[in-house]
Amino acid sequence: MIHKTVLLNESIEKLNLKDGSIYFDGTLGGAGHSSKVCSDFGDKVRIIATDRDNLAIRNAEEKLSKIGCSANLILSDYRNMDVVLKNLGVEKVDAILLDLGLSSDQLDASGRGFSFKNNEPLLMTFSEDNQKVDAQVILNNWSEETIADILYGYSDERYSRRIAKAVVSARKIKPIMTTFDLVEIIRSAVPAVYQRGKTHFATKTFQALRIAVNDEITALKDGMRKGWELLNVGGRMAIISFHSVEDREVKFFFKNKSKNEEGKLINKKPIIPTDEEVRENPRSRSAKLRVIEKIK
Ligand SMILES: C[S@@+](CC[C@H](N)C(=O)[O-])C[C@H]1O[C@@H](n2cnc3c(N)ncnc32)[C@H](O)[C@@H]1O
Repeated sequence: MIHKTVLLNESIEKLNLKDGSIYFDGTLGGAGHSSKVCSDFGDKVRIIATDRDNLAIRNAEEKLSKIGCSANLILSDYRNMDVVLKNLGVEKVDAILLDLGLSSDQLDASGRGFSFKNNEPLLMTFSEDNQKVDAQVILNNWSEETIADILYGYSDERYSRRIAKAVVSARKIKPIMTTFDLVEIIRSAVPAVYQRGKTHFATKTFQALRIAVNDEITALKDGMRKGWELLNVGGRMAIISFHSVEDREVKFFFKNKSKNEEGKLINKKPIIPTDEEVRENPRSRSAKLRVIEKIK
């Protein structure tokens, strides 16, 4: 499935870009947001973007140049945005967007085991290069307690302990290597009623492992902290999150900035997709957009 950009108009509108602005897109992905900036402003807004996925960068280069923008697209973790901008000789930016998580292209077609629907090697790494930690490493080596903590902490999986126990028993017999290996282990650990639930019983385990593999919560915290330093006064930061653990971090960071009178919340409550967007793109259903302006 081709990635459908979530909260596209809402997020770009709230970033309040103007001719001459510098826009930093930390999570370029299918370049949906950056393409809109490019279509709306052409080269009057400078686009600088990062992604950890090489394929995303390559595809976006083609897409943006077709629309007619010369953007700086850099293969990098957004948490290194300070280095990225310094290398480009850019001191401050006017807008920062982080659209967290993974794209539908990665979910469906990366071959790296993000989806429990395809039988693939259990890697779950955003980058194609060998990351030190992948899902196989976690499942086959980390302690039962740590695995349970990951499942509970990153996705509130209520059967975290049972699943972690089943993982450790299974790996004594043979290493856990594929998505379907993991699905069967989860199936063996959770009650039948959970298996019949509206949400697939493997959803939370897969989400939590992906977050752990890519160290996503630390990346988000580092990204917000550095982004704030790099934002001009009057500039805005917009973050789209897809689950409560991420949203909690964003809410906490933004609230603190507002309490200290360093920032102004642009929307008191998070902006969520309209019913129409959710109908057209069910993957948008859990999205929350928060926006803040730097005032000091
Ligand atoms: C939801 S997609 C972004 C979609 C994009 N906004 C669009 O409209 O097409 C998230 C992207 O962020 C990338 N990503 C996730 N964490 C990252 C990080 N820490 N640094 C850089 N890219 C990251 C993923 O590889 C993925 O391509």
